[in-house]
Amino acid sequence: MKRYLITGASRGIGRAIAEKLASPECTLLLHGRNREALAKTCRLVESKSGKAIPLLYDLRRPIRVDKMSEAIGPEPLDALINNAGVAMVKPFGEITLVEWDTLFAVNVTAPFLLTQRLAPKMQTGSSIVNILSIAAKNGFPGWSGYCMTKFALEGFSQCVREELRPRGIRVLNIYPAATNTEIWDAVQGEWPREKMLLPEEIGDAVAYALSRPAGVAVENIDLLNLTGRL
Ligand SMILES: NC(=O)c1ccc[n+]([C@@H]2O[C@H](COP(=O)([O-])OP(=O)(O)OC[C@H]3O[C@@H](n4cnc5c(N)ncnc54)[C@H](OP(=O)(O)O)[C@@H]3O)[C@@H](O)[C@H]2O)c1
Repeated sequence: MKRYLITGASRGIGRAIAEKLASPECTLLLHGRNREALAKTCRLVESKSGKAIPLLYDLRRPIRVDKMSEAIGPEPLDALINNAGVAMVKPFGEITLVEWDTLFAVNVTAPFLLTQRLAPKMQTGSSIVNILSIAAKNGFPGWSGYCMTKFALEGFSQCVREELRPRGIRVLNIYPAATNTEIWDAVQGEWPREKMLLPEEIGDAVAYALSRPAGVAVENIDLLNLTGRL
């Protein structure tokens, strides 16, 4: 029985990953904050005869991330999927320190702590998947806070990849372009949802990368809309 942890599985890309990975051979540890939304993801997984275990923790607080790591228990994970994230768009001159710290806590510190706490127990053939973004490679006006976090996670993950390579643990990075999820509800401005990717595409990419033989690492997947940038 495989054991996968997906953070931010209560909606959007995380839920799509959970639906894609759901199977009778797999226990999914599904993290989120919103109890009802997470319960819906659990039901979707169970409808595919998968086992779902909900984990309700606020990733803004390192102490809660530690509690979650403890709750996951001593049994090793086959995959840690760092997906939970927050976005914000505003000129750099208007970003408050609280907003900056929140972005960093959820998008960088939480994946750092989860990786640090959980990777030591992982075995050869297991994987760490990071949901990055095209914002890990390019800057966009108004996106400095968000890009800062994705560039930071990119640097962290590249180094962790090399540290874990001798143990046969893969670090698989996924770089989606704009994807139609609720993350955009909190982003200022008009954004053409019809040009965005669907979250299912990201779920497919994660499932593909995880499904490769243990000795094969699909280390970086760019997912772009053929019509170009928004
Ligand atoms: N959508 C895009 O265009 C896009 C493109 C590239 C990369 N990404 C990345 O993909 C990942 C998922 O994004 P999404 O579009 O699916 O976003 P979403 O629909 O807004 O979902 C975000 C998820 O993160 C969780 N989350 C947010 N803040 C949290 C906190 N403080 N503590 C715990 N959980 C928290 C949410 O949980 P609750 O709802 O339960 O709070 C939710 O499950 C993010 O890392 C994002 O940066 C998104």
